[in-house]
Amino acid sequence: MQEAQQKQDTFYITTPIYYPSAKLHIGHTYCTTLADVMARYHRLRGDAVYFVTGSDEHGQKIQRKAEEEGVTPQAYVDPIVAGFQNLWRKLNISHDDFIRTTEERHRRVVQQLFRQAYDNGDIYKSKYEGWYCTPCETFWPENKLDESHACPDCHRPVELVSEESYFFRMSRYADRWLQFIEENPDFIQPVSRRNEMIEFVKSGLEDLSVSRSSFDWGIPVPFDEKHVIYVWFDALANYLTALGYGTDDPKFAQFWPADIHLVGKEIVRFHAIIWPIILMSLGIDLPKQVYGHGWLIVDGEKMSKSRGNVVDPLPLLDEFGADAIRYFLVTDISLGQDGNFSRQRLIRKTNSDLANDLGNLLHRTLTMVEKYRGGTVPPLPQEVSAAVAQANAELTALAEETTAAYRRNMDAKRLNLAFKELWIFVRALNKYIDVTEPWKLAKAAEPADLDAVLYRLADGLRLVALLASPLIPQAAENMWAQLGLPNTGFCLTEAVVNGYPGGTTVAKAAPLFPRHESAEAEEETAAKAAEPTPAAAKPAAPPAAEAAIPQVAIDDFMKLDLRVAEVLACEKVPKADKLLHLTVTLGNEERSIVSGIAQHYEPAELIGKHVILVTNLKPVKLRGVLSQGMILAASQDGKLVVPFVPDMPAGSRVK
Ligand code: MSP
Repeated sequence: MQEAQQKQDTFYITTPIYYPSAKLHIGHTYCTTLADVMARYHRLRGDAVYFVTGSDEHGQKIQRKAEEEGVTPQAYVDPIVAGFQNLWRKLNISHDDFIRTTEERHRRVVQQLFRQAYDNGDIYKSKYEGWYCTPCETFWPENKLDESHACPDCHRPVELVSEESYFFRMSRYADRWLQFIEENPDFIQPVSRRNEMIEFVKSGLEDLSVSRSSFDWGIPVPFDEKHVIYVWFDALANYLTALGYGTDDPKFAQFWPADIHLVGKEIVRFHAIIWPIILMSLGIDLPKQVYGHGWLIVDGEKMSKSRGNVVDPLPLLDEFGADAIRYFLVTDISLGQDGNFSRQRLIRKTNSDLANDLGNLLHRTLTMVEKYRGGTVPPLPQEVSAAVAQANAELTALAEETTAAYRRNMDAKRLNLAFKELWIFVRALNKYIDVTEPWKLAKAAEPADLDAVLYRLADGLRLVALLASPLIPQAAENMWAQLGLPNTGFCLTEAVVNGYPGGTTVAKAAPLFPRHESAEAEEETAAKAAEPTPAAAKPAAPPAAEAAIPQVAIDDFMKLDLRVAEVLACEKVPKADKLLHLTVTLGNEERSIVSGIAQHYEPAELIGKHVILVTNLKPVKLRGVLSQGMILAASQDGKLVVPFVPDMPAGSRVK
């Protein structure tokens, strides 16, 4: 028992490996940033972490691009892959391995897996006659295409392919897969993607073509060199190669099965259906989770080179720095939902949350420590006035709640909520300065109150640096150094109130985040100023005459099941001005809800809120989206307000 308790937890996390068919755009950086924050959080917890990303270099798409440029495929991909590595360095991505599918270690694993599946009888030779999307490297059965024969994912034309091919017996595993999903409800997240995958498999699983014979840029089939292995079979195997599968590398035993394959929503199918079935065939344990995140979109469209709406991350990194970009990507979009990339919002969030809320807080605090205490944070005094004692008690209670909520949310991969709560604490520290007014305390005869306030601020900032370190690692280290703390690495067990060593001399430096004054910021300020001020609240209309409202017996009212629900995710319903699609939890069950509140709430405002849900209405589909309940809202003269019940846990009965 004791031994088990001492064993270090492990965490193996992967991102997709990216096609080096073009430079990466800001949409690609989303997944890698999320994965990096998760990896850093697990290191903070003290887990043994292995974090892998890389490049997916084979396939017809790359071969064609190389031919167009008149170079070999390898010469074509090398500089692009070097660009990926440079991008990850600039974004402060802390991966433990970068795997290239053209490496020898990978070729060995892919050939071994292919041969093993063949020997099992799960791979057989036949002919593929059908459709193929080269940009997505995807085979499409006729029944998944409409008359225009465009790829359902990228909407580009598919090509008719007719060639000898090896096939993998996917069909044999449909029932086993369905049973596995039933027994492992958390395997595919979020729930909406799991439902899509179940529908996909139930609609019939065809055998998958796993080799190509009309071009040669790939890993050869070990026993039939006319064929190269299908690029997705090749690519998925990277998750095993990175751990030294099939060698005496101890990493495989230590880290497999992977804790999470984090992927974009359009490639969940490969990771949640094809990959597990390959592993089932090979008798290898399945990963614990496939998480399909949403896309960064621009005006409702996925960012992509073919649509001409890509945003290059490199100039943004030079302009804003890695931390600001990381902060924006993680906190502005809720994991699982699509999110809009907007430069204006990036500027706004950088200025308000990072430069103002956090940067100014540090600067104000250290300035006061210098001005009033010669640069040394005093130890926490025992005796203080009642007013300061009260403010301190509130702040320390919030610090403890914030730390607990942070851990809960990070463990549940609700990254945006974890940091949202942390920033509530940051704002509370700012408010604490306004309430305690240290400049007045500095004039008092007794030093204790000011000592206590300066200590509380330094201690609060220490906690913020520690908890924010997975998200904004450079700023966190910088804060740590400015607080005069030794750089011994962050550790979650040290996230405690009163962890700051009183008597430490601070080292104030330049502001953490520069503000971004720009045309956009000015435009936005002007636009805000021009917004009409809300009309003075009208007196409420008298309630309708009692006689007009039919009375119901208490028994009738009790037939309604009203419960507190926590909003996990929220997005606009496409082409419906008034509708939001929410995913809520009732504690033990998630529901999909469509609510007509889009003109009154931004999706981001609702995430994490506790609302009241009528749970036993008959489910309906609105604009094709399932709605399993109704959110209560008060309305008057076109205004609509959703009551929130923050202190009640999800699932609480309302009556
Ligand atoms: N090579 C395959 C993955 C193989 S993994 C065994 C591939 N590569 S990709 O370069 O096309 O895409 C890599 C990842 O980037 C995918 O998860 C995809 O969803 C993600 N994104 C591409 N554009 C994106 C956005 N606009 N927003 C968020 N993620 C995006 O697929």
